[in-house]
Amino acid sequence: MKLLVIGATGRTGKHVLTQGVERGHEITAFARRPELLTGHTGLADVRRGDAHDLDAVREAVQGQDAVLAAVGGSRIASTLITAMRESGVRRVVMTSSRSVPATRPRLAVTLAWLFFRAAYVDLARAEGMLQASLLDWSIARGTMLNDKPPAGRVHIDFEADATGGAMQLSRADYAMALLDTVENPALIGQALGICGPK
Ligand SMILES: NC(=O)c1ccc[n+]([C@@H]2O[C@H](COP(=O)([O-])OP(=O)(O)OC[C@H]3O[C@@H](n4cnc5c(N)ncnc54)[C@H](OP(=O)(O)O)[C@@H]3O)[C@@H](O)[C@H]2O)c1
Repeated sequence: MKLLVIGATGRTGKHVLTQGVERGHEITAFARRPELLTGHTGLADVRRGDAHDLDAVREAVQGQDAVLAAVGGSRIASTLITAMRESGVRRVVMTSSRSVPATRPRLAVTLAWLFFRAAYVDLARAEGMLQASLLDWSIARGTMLNDKPPAGRVHIDFEADATGGAMQLSRADYAMALLDTVENPALIGQALGICGPK
């Protein structure tokens, strides 16, 4: 699959690049600071740009089979949706947070919203934009990320509140789930909750 990765220099994004190349995808990395990717081999292309810049995103999206945004946000969603509609690229997966729709565990969700309210409001907006976009979207709501070694397994559900799994999720496992999602057409139009394995 020809896959454009936005947020490619991020802690999750770098795992997406490595695992995506291992899976045989033709990966184009899109980043504001592509010089941070010097150690990454096997990429099909590297594009410098800001995902808020419609012209830069428009150029990068051309000819791709899918876009994986390893960073969430409403301005990024907005430019992506416009560029993808224009170019006819339909498949998009974007990260979001499990806290956006969650109501339980009540204390943890309340505290998370207290500290990250602005980010969650913006992610909720981004989710709504994707859901209304008529693109082939999936939203991957991760729980609390860390940089521990991968377990090679995650817990996935389609509910607002987690149905199991661990609150902590390694970024390597999150990247695995993001790639599994973009590869799976059955997940088009779905918002997945992704937790660590129990
Ligand atoms: N952190 C968590 O605990 C958590 C929990 C649940 C879900 N998530 C979701 O997972 C995503 C990834 O998390 P992470 O911790 O791996 O993120 P991260 O390490 O902070 O990486 C974010 C990446 O996005 C890039 N970026 C940000 N704005 C951009 C723009 N306008 N144009 C181009 N690139 C841009 C950053 O590039 P620069 O280096 O240029 O800034 C960076 O490479 C989050 O965005 C969120 O949606 C995170």
